[in-house]
Parts: sequence; C-alpha cells; structure tokens
Amino acid sequence: MNNFTYYNATRIIFGRKTEYQVGSEVKKYADKILLHYGGGSIKKYGLYDRVVNSLNEHGIQYIELAGVQPNPRVSLVRSGIQICREYNISFILAVGGGSVIDSAKAIAAGVPYNGDVWDFYSGKAQIKECLPVGVVLTIPAAGSESSTSSVLTNEDGWIKKGTGSELIRPVFAIMNPELSFTLPAYQTACGAADIMAHVMERYFTNTLDVDFTDRLCEATLKTVINNVPIAIKNPEDYAARAEVMWAGSIAHNGLLGTGREEDWASHRIEHELSAIYDVAHGAGLAVIFPAWMKYVYKHNIPRFVQFAVRVWNVENDFQNPEKTALMGIEKTKEFFASIGLPVSLKQMGIGDDRLEEMADKCTNGDTKTQGGLVKLKKKDIIQIYKMALE
Ligand code: NZQ
Ligand code: ZN
Repeated sequence: MNNFTYYNATRIIFGRKTEYQVGSEVKKYADKILLHYGGGSIKKYGLYDRVVNSLNEHGIQYIELAGVQPNPRVSLVRSGIQICREYNISFILAVGGGSVIDSAKAIAAGVPYNGDVWDFYSGKAQIKECLPVGVVLTIPAAGSESSTSSVLTNEDGWIKKGTGSELIRPVFAIMNPELSFTLPAYQTACGAADIMAHVMERYFTNTLDVDFTDRLCEATLKTVINNVPIAIKNPEDYAARAEVMWAGSIAHNGLLGTGREEDWASHRIEHELSAIYDVAHGAGLAVIFPAWMKYVYKHNIPRFVQFAVRVWNVENDFQNPEKTALMGIEKTKEFFASIGLPVSLKQMGIGDDRLEEMADKCTNGDTKTQGGLVKLKKKDIIQIYKMALE
C-alpha cells in the first residue's frame, strides 16, 4: 500500500426531503448566491420551487443562471463568472447532476482568478482560490457532488478537459434519492456505468497489498450491479435508488483510491468521444471500458481474475486463469448491454473516420501516455477505439 493523505470536506446530507434544508445550509456561507441549473428538469419536477422557497425563507437573495448542457460548456461558465463579479456573489448553488456541478465549480474557481478560466483546464494555471459551492444532487453518476474534479468542454476546438483541486470540493451535498425517481431509464443506466467506471479506474492497479480498498471497490460495484436493474424496473424504489446514490458518491470521493496507483485511461479515451460526438459520458464509458480491459488484461491477469471471481461470481478456472479473466470482461459488457447501454461505437452511430484524431488529442500529439495499469501511447489508443467499433 502506498502512503496517502485523505481529507474529504463535503458535508453529506442524505435522505428523504433533505432538499428542504438547502436554505439553512446556504445561510452558513452567504446571503447572496448564484443559483445554477440545467435544462429544466428541476422546474418540470417541482424541485426548483422547493429550493427557492427554502432560500426565500432564509432571506437568501439569488441570481439564476440556467441552461447548463450535458458536457458543460466553458462559454456559459464565463457568463457565470461575469454575473458573480457584477453582483458581488460569493457562493454558488448547483442544483442538478455532474454537468451543473462541474460548471458551478468552474465558475467558483474563475471568479477570483485574473486570467481565463480555461487556463485551469488546459494546464496553464492551478486553482489557488475558489468560492464555496453547495449541491442539491438530482442524478447519481459523476460523483462530482463530493469530488475534487470538474470537467468542461471548450467549444473552440471541441476539447473536453478536467481539472482537479481540493479547493473545488463542494462544501455540502444534499442527496435525496427521491429526486432521482424521475430519471429516464437511459440516464439511470448511464449513471451506473459512470459509477462503475470510477471504481474500476481505481480497482485496476499494479499496487500490491491494497486488500481493504479492493474489498470496498468490490462492495461498491456489487451494490450498483444489484440495485440498478431494480431502479430501472421500478423507478420509484427508494431503497434501490438510495443504494445507488450513496454508492455513486463513495465511488468518486477519493476513498477507494487511497494507497494505490489509479488508472483513468478509459475516462480520458471517453472524453474525446464526448467532446466530438457529444455522447453521454456514461454511455461512452460502457463502450470504451470493456475494450480497454480486453486490450490491457494480459499485463495483470491475477487482477482481472480477482475481478471476475469476486465481482461477477465467475468460477475460477485454475488451469486457465486467462479464460476466467476474459469471462469477467464479458460479464461487464453483458451487464452494460442488459441495462440498455450501447457497447460498441457502431451502436452509437460512430464510425472509424476520426479515431486517429481522437487518439492524437488524447495523447497531446503522442507526447504523453494515458493510464496507470499500462501506459498507453497514441497507437495503443487507436487500437482500443478500433476494438470498440463492433
Ligand atoms: O439539464 P436537465 O434538464 O436537468 O437534465 C439532465 C440532463 O439532461 C437530466 N437529469 C438530471 N437529473 C434528472 C434529470 N432528468 C430527470 N430527472 C432528474 N432527476 O440528466 C441529463 C444528464 O445530466 P448530467 O448532469 O450531464 O449527468 P451526469 O451527472 O452524468 O454528469 C455528466 C458530466 O459529468 C462529467 C462528465 O464528463 C459529464 O460532463 N464528469 C464529472 C466528474 C467529476 N466532476 O468528478 C467525473 C466524471 O468522471 C465525469 O467525467
Ligand atoms: Zn466518469
């Protein structure tokens, strides 16, 4: 196990009707805020009214910035930064999913910064200061409600990049599983793939002696695998929705990666797909992750055997561990397909014409590698895209 420091500053307020507490939580930080949300689902399902009533009850003034798109854009973030400066706003409340939260984090980091906010994403600058961000979560998926990252898309060149800092971790996250009842089956499934991917990016490591976090990873994966089909069949099953929502935060709050090297190649490879084709991040991962697994498993067969046996209950073939490893990969793919996700680029309507371009962007023109388990170069990433085609 490697040395590590772990600190998670997000207060989690979890359970039925917890959104009614939003005003009292915000009041601890500010009297004037930016209320940030997406394309309208929160108005359609009544959450917006509950949130603004609670803000009003606590005498909190709010200025609204709606319209965050899935795969959030830097242009809207720049508008948000302008608004906050103009109205002297010192707190951002994100009501929505990963896209809204990431956009809120970017605004919060951009307000006190003199340069352009994209500098944090291009790697030109580090976040040194940030306004506090609070969250009311509506979809378990990205884990952004208690993560240290934010991912944005720059329309200039359609580049999708992430940035990370402890400073952008939200100060609180209100998580009421009832708010996820209205999610369409496809969004629930995309969320599941993303949660699983966040665990698997940490699980597939070369670091030895990480048994405790291995077991936590396996428990998190099994919880999602068991409960997502129930939530898809019966969207208002509170118990199943609650399991998935809590698993979604644990998957990406840093705990499962403690003491181990992480991978993240699949995420970077997927981000190129989302950037160019604007596909849902979780759907892209359902396509890319199994292809990545097939490309790299030979580098660490025992780890893939452990995954197959412990997560998917595959019986170990002692004479042929490679066969066991491959069955775990197959089970992962079958699961994604069973919850209605695409498992090939073809199913997403994506052909082979831009694979080289995506691999090039992913590796900065073949100047950097991706992944921890295996360090992938541009040529490897092209192969992974090719394996994902059918
Ligand atoms: O915009 P509205 O109308 O609210 O609709 C949203 C959106 O269309 C809808 N939705 C959300 N909650 C709903 C709902 N519809 C009905 N009922 C509800 N309760 O769902 C759609 C998707 O929302 P989005 O926020 O895009 O989903 P998600 O949470 O999956 O976020 C995806 C983004 O997060 C990034 C991804 O790259 C992607 O841009 N990620 C962020 C991470 C982080 N910050 O730590 C890590 C992840 O790996 C990921 O990269
Ligand atoms: Zn993700």
